[in-house]
Order: sequence, then C-alpha cells, then structure tokens
Amino acid sequence: MRVLVTGATGTVGREVCRALLARGVEVRVGARPTSDVPAVLPKVTDVVPFDFTEPPSPSVFGGIDAFFFMTPLIEDQVPISQRVLDAAEKAGVAHVVRLSSRSAGWDHQSKLRAWHRMIDESVQRSSMSSVILRPCSFFQNFIKYQAKTIRSMSSIIIPQGDGLVPYIDAMDIGEAGAECLLDSEKHDGQTYVLTGARAYGAKGVAAEIGRVIGKPIMFIDVDESAAQDAMLQAGNPPWLVEAALAVFASAKAGLEAAVDPSITELLGRPATSLSEFVERNREAWT
Ligand SMILES: NC(=O)c1ccc[n+]([C@@H]2O[C@H](COP(=O)([O-])OP(=O)(O)OC[C@H]3O[C@@H](n4cnc5c(N)ncnc54)[C@H](OP(=O)(O)O)[C@@H]3O)[C@@H](O)[C@H]2O)c1
Repeated sequence: MRVLVTGATGTVGREVCRALLARGVEVRVGARPTSDVPAVLPKVTDVVPFDFTEPPSPSVFGGIDAFFFMTPLIEDQVPISQRVLDAAEKAGVAHVVRLSSRSAGWDHQSKLRAWHRMIDESVQRSSMSSVILRPCSFFQNFIKYQAKTIRSMSSIIIPQGDGLVPYIDAMDIGEAGAECLLDSEKHDGQTYVLTGARAYGAKGVAAEIGRVIGKPIMFIDVDESAAQDAMLQAGNPPWLVEAALAVFASAKAGLEAAVDPSITELLGRPATSLSEFVERNREAWT
C-alpha cells in the first residue's frame, strides 16, 4: 500500500508519516521545492513536487492507494482543495483521510471554519471512500506559537480567559490518521472529533510547563484587541487573525471544553496527557 501525505513537514503531517512508516507502509510526500523533507523525515525517499497553489502534476497521485489531505493556512483553500480532490479522483485514488477542524462542525461565523466545512463536504461528495478528522486545538500550539514568549518572558500571552480546551497531541492525530488510512472499510464515511482526555485552561498549561522546566510560567490573559493588533503588526493576513481570535473567543466562551472519546476508540489507549506532552517536549521551552 502506498499513501500520499500533504503537509508532511508540518505538525500533523510528520506524525502521520511516522505512524505509517512504523507500520511498514510506503509513504510518498508531496512537498514544495523549498521544503526540507529529509530534515524532518529522513526515512522518506519518495518525494514529489507539489504546491497547493499550482495544479498537481499526474505524477503526484500515480500509484497512490490512499491520500492524507491537509490544507495549509492559505486563503483560496476551497477551490484549491477541489482541484486537488479532482486530480486524486482522476488518478484512481481509492481513499482519502481529511484533516479538518472540530469547530467546522458548529461554527458558521469564522471564515476558516466555514472553509474547512466546505472542503469536508467536497471530500464527502467525491467518489473516494473518506474519513474526516476534526481535531480541537493541538498541544503543539504551545510550542509553535508560544515557545518564544515562554522562553523570553516566562509567559503564555493569549486572549483566552478561563476557557478550557481538551488539547490534543499531534502525535495522537498522526496515529489516528494512519489507522483511518489503512482500514478504509472500517472507517469509510466517518467523521471523528478528536480531543484529548481532559480539558485544561491556559493557566494550567503554563503551570505544567513551569513545573517541568523548573521555572514559573505565567498566563497573561491579554485583551482581544491587543492580541489582534500584535498579530496584524506581525504581518498575518486579516482572515488568519480573525481565525486565531475565533479559537480563543470560543474557548473563552466555554464552547471548546467538551471531551470526545473517539481518539481512545481509534487508538485503543487514552489520549496523551498534558504532563506526557510537556515532559516529551521540555527542551522546546528552555
Ligand atoms: N493548530 C491547531 O490547533 C489546529 C486545530 C485544528 C485544525 N487545524 C488545521 O490543521 C491544518 C494545519 O496543519 P498543521 O498544523 O499540521 O500544518 P503546519 O504545521 O502549519 O504545516 C503546514 C504544512 O503545509 C505545507 N505547505 C504550506 N504551504 C504549502 C503549499 N502552498 N503547497 C504545499 N505544501 C504547503 C508546509 O510545508 P513546507 O513549509 O515544508 O513547504 C507544511 O508541511 C490547518 O488546516 C488548520 O486549520 C489546526
């Protein structure tokens, strides 16, 4: 079996690749020429040029049985995704596992969440068997977006109030993705909401990181407009800033706290806990 993975150098894609390789599956990575795949996935040798912003060449999907389909944070992702799905279908790919977002299921205001929902619907309309993965916020956001301020200011600075989120480890999503890619018969037509086993506030995450690295870390509940200004000044496009603020606002409003059992059912074990995640990644914050 050969699986094509997009976004393979990213937070989730790399974990999907690792989980597939550990199961002896042949992995093809579709990546931009600028992408340093060997640095992230040294065991992957089948790397084909693939840029979401350009029509995919037939070599991308040739000989592929299943496709892990994530979309990067780009603005035209709905029509771009349709083009990618059409190419996969035309090449005879049988099965697709789509990385979506939990809030695509209920938030009809945020642009990015609406785009996720529209792409999910395109996947479900295709002739391929399909699985939709809808994870909540990743634990890895505390590395990708917060490590710098944790290191330099001993703080997590986000407009999240006391909002609780059952953060999920991207490694667990990768394992779940591999399971859904490899057993299309069992999972076809399913939409899985993926969360951790317990919801945490940003204050609790800060305290746990501080405990593990041996230095107190504060949670600063910054005002939403100040967070918006900072993100815009950092050069983020308005639609992406809106998307990020929507995540914090819904957490603050208590809309993100629910825990879903799907990950335990898919993996046959509990989701990775906050302590396990922080211990495994302690060097990211020191
Ligand atoms: N963060 C969260 O908490 C969260 C929660 C739920 C859902 N999601 C969804 O998860 C997705 C992001 O996944 P992620 O965090 O794993 O991604 P990520 O870490 O941001 O990585 C992006 C990946 O996409 C690749 N990429 C970027 N632009 C590309 C292009 N034009 N053509 C081809 N490849 C391109 C990057 O490759 P190179 O840079 O190496 O070229 C990289 O592999 C989004 O759809 C997001 O909405 C995120």
